[in-house]
Amino acid sequence: TSGGSDAMKRRAGESAAAAVSDGDVVGLGTGSTAAHAIRRLGDRVDAGLDIRGVPTSFASRELAVEAAIPCLDLPDAVGPDGPGIDVAIDGADQVATGAGAADAGRGEADAPAPGSGVSDSPAPGGALIKGGGAAHAREKLVDAAADRFLVVADPSKESPRLDRSVPIEVLPAGRTAVAAAIREAGGEPTLRRAERKDGPVVTDNGNLVLDCPFGEVADPAALSATLSSIPGIVEHGLFVGLADEIHVGTESDVRVDEV
Ligand code: A5P
Repeated sequence: TSGGSDAMKRRAGESAAAAVSDGDVVGLGTGSTAAHAIRRLGDRVDAGLDIRGVPTSFASRELAVEAAIPCLDLPDAVGPDGPGIDVAIDGADQVATGAGAADAGRGEADAPAPGSGVSDSPAPGGALIKGGGAAHAREKLVDAAADRFLVVADPSKESPRLDRSVPIEVLPAGRTAVAAAIREAGGEPTLRRAERKDGPVVTDNGNLVLDCPFGEVADPAALSATLSSIPGIVEHGLFVGLADEIHVGTESDVRVDEV
């Protein structure tokens, strides 16, 4: 569904799958890139790797079952007696490269102060837009709960600025109130419609999705906080401060950036 070659996505997915260790509980992301990681984990399970997966969607659960990866539900994984989640592997629709790979992990010392009026500063490296597959609410629960979150992507996803539209999952009854609040916040909400069905996309949670361009999101953390405070928004697709590593599949190789 999205750009980038399948071979590059596969390299990224397989690189992240190689970072999983025996005994791990693994968050299983959604989308074509994460699917490569799930299939490779299935191969490793066939070869004796002992892991349990925590799917982020109906689709990733189906892939896990096909790949014979034993699964745990999120409430059991992170409950008081649960094992927790060691590592999550998930794709993204856009990945902010920040000030560049060389500056990754250097902290914010060189960044302009928030509110300094600098408008052309890049988004913080590793900030993500997700939800192209309408799975971002459960993805965020799983990715945030994981000790380590590995993003898998191809170079078409990388950008110094976050400017793709932000998917927002809303309670059906809150749709018009939320749309008004999003317009107030500078976004242009459009109800996501299904391609092979009359009517809207309904998420795995029974909710609707508003696709919301905000232009360039100069301060993803601030917009994230604003959106999270709007009643009726179940979850939005800005993932800020969650990613630990970005695995980018290239023409011939994989680049791993620590965030
Ligand atoms: C699912 O809702 C999204 O967050 C996906 O993680 C994202 O769309 C990536 O999908 P691809 O790997 O297919 O581009």
